[in-house]
Amino acid sequence: MTKARLLRLSVVLVSVFMILLIIVYWDNVGTAHFYLHTSFSRPRSPGAITAGEDWEALPDVDEFLAKLLSSSLKQNTSVPRKTEQLLVQGSNKPVVSNLEENVRGYDWSTHKDRNSLDQEKLQVERQRTLREFCANSSFTFPTKERSFDDIPNYELNHLIVDDRHGVIYCYVPKVACTNWKRVMIVLSESLLDQGVPYRNPLDIPREHVHNTSTHLTFNKFWRRYGKFSRHLMKIKLKKYTKFLFVRDPFVRLISAFRSKFELENEDFYRRFAIPMLKLYSNHTNLPTSVSEAFGAGLKVSFSDFIQYLLDPRTEKMAPFNEHWRQVYRLCHPCQIDYDFIGKLETLDEDAAYLLQLLKVDRLLRFPPSYRNRTASSWEDNWFAKIPLAWRQQLYKLYEADFVLFGYPKPENLLKD
Ligand SMILES: *[C@@H]1O[C@H](CO)[C@@H](O)[C@H](O)[C@H]1NC(C)=O
Ligand SMILES: *[C@@H]1O[C@H](CO)[C@@H](O)[C@H](O)[C@H]1NC(C)=O
Ligand SMILES: *[C@@H]1O[C@H](CO)[C@@H](O)[C@H](O)[C@H]1NC(C)=O
Ligand SMILES: *[C@@H]1O[C@H](CO)[C@@H](O)[C@H](O)[C@H]1NC(C)=O
Ligand SMILES: *[C@@H]1O[C@H](CO)[C@@H](O)[C@H](O)[C@H]1NC(C)=O
Repeated sequence: MTKARLLRLSVVLVSVFMILLIIVYWDNVGTAHFYLHTSFSRPRSPGAITAGEDWEALPDVDEFLAKLLSSSLKQNTSVPRKTEQLLVQGSNKPVVSNLEENVRGYDWSTHKDRNSLDQEKLQVERQRTLREFCANSSFTFPTKERSFDDIPNYELNHLIVDDRHGVIYCYVPKVACTNWKRVMIVLSESLLDQGVPYRNPLDIPREHVHNTSTHLTFNKFWRRYGKFSRHLMKIKLKKYTKFLFVRDPFVRLISAFRSKFELENEDFYRRFAIPMLKLYSNHTNLPTSVSEAFGAGLKVSFSDFIQYLLDPRTEKMAPFNEHWRQVYRLCHPCQIDYDFIGKLETLDEDAAYLLQLLKVDRLLRFPPSYRNRTASSWEDNWFAKIPLAWRQQLYKLYEADFVLFGYPKPENLLKD
C-alpha cells in the first residue's frame, strides 16, 4: 500500500468517526432544542460543535466525550430553566439555608398562591434531609459510598427519560408508578394510538404502560450507543429535571404483598409464592396454578413474606424483586441529584405542583387514583403477628429508605 492510499484511508476513517460523533450528540442532547415550542426554555448546549476544535489532540473517544460533556456543562446559561434554577439552587451543596433567596429567585407572577410556597418549602426540606444523610458519614448503608460511575448499567434501568421536555423519572413500583409511567408516555409521545400520540394518560392500556419497550430507558441507549451511553446518560442527568416518588417503606411492603400475593398472580405465584410456601410453611406438593392453590386455601402469609425478605438466601439467589427492592437501590438518591421528591402520602398536591414546575400542567392532569390504597393506619394490624425480632431486622433492611426520605422510625412496631 502506498503512503498516499494510507493517508486517504485514514482521512476517510476520521471523517466517518467525526460524523458519527456529531450524530450521536445531536440525536441525544440536541433533540430537546427542536421542541422548544412545547418545553420550557432550557440552557442551550452548543458545546457540540465548538468543542470539536481540539478533538485531534485526543486519541481516545471516552476522553473526547468527557471533554465535550464538561465543556457543555461549563456553559453559563443566560436563560436558565426556572425549575432548575429554583430547585437546584435551593439544593446546592452545602445545603442552602436561605430559603428566602430561593423564593425570591422564582417567578411568582403566575402562581403566587400560598400552595406553591408551601410546596416549595416542602421540596427544599426533603432535599435537605436527603443531602444531609448522604453526606453524613456516620450513617451508612450498602452501596452508599460508590460513585455514579460505579453503578452497573442494569441498575440504571429504572430511569425513564423524556427528551422532549427534558425530564427523567425514576420509577418505584407500588408508588403510583403506573400513572407516572402513563404521564411519561404522554409527555414523550412514545406510544401511538392509530398513528396519534396518546394525550390522556388514562387512555393508555395497562399492558402497554408496563411494557419496558414503551419507555426510553438506559438499556435502549446501551443497545444504540454502547460505550457512549454512560456519557449520554450523564449529560441528561445533569441537564434534565429528575424526579421520583417514594412512600413509607413498611406500607410499601404491605402494598406489594397485597397486590402480588393476595390477588391471583400466576407469575408471582410461580416465582415467589411456591418457594416461600415450601421453605417457610413446609408444603411439598403444591399446585402449579395460582387458582388451584387459592382454591385449596394455599396462600403465602404476610409472615412468610417477611421471613423471605429476611432470609439471607434470598439475596444470594437474585436481587430483591423491584416491588420490594429498597428505593435507594432502585434510584440511587445519593448519586443522582433529584430535583423533586414526591411522596405517595401527598400524591395529589405533589403531582399537581410537579406538573406545574415542569410547565406541562396545561398539557395533562395527573390521573386520580380510585384504587384501594394501602393506608398507613393498617400497619399495626399487619405487623401484629410478626415477631418483634423480625420487625427490628426488617427495619434495618429498609432503614436507609426511612431515613433518606424523612419517614419517622416506626417506634411502636420496634418495641414491645
Ligand atoms: C455564571 O456566571 C455568573 C456571572 O456571570 C457567575 O456568578 C456564576 O458563578 C456562573 N455560574 C457557573 C455555573 O459558572
Ligand atoms: C449523622 O448520622 C448519625 C447516625 O444516623 C446521627 O446520629 C447524627 O446525628 C447525624 N449527624 C448529622 C450532622 O446529621
Ligand atoms: C411490548 O411491546 C413490543 C413493541 O410494541 C411488543 O413487540 C412486545 O410483544 C410487547 N411485550 C409484551 C410483553 O407485551
Ligand atoms: C417445618 O418442619 C420443620 C422440621 O421438618 C419444623 O422444625 C418446623 O417447625 C416446621 N414448620 C412449620 C411452619 O410447620
Ligand atoms: C380495601 O382492601 C381491604 C383489605 O384488602 C378490604 O378489607 C376492603 O374491603 C377494601 N375496600 C374496598 C372499598 O374495596
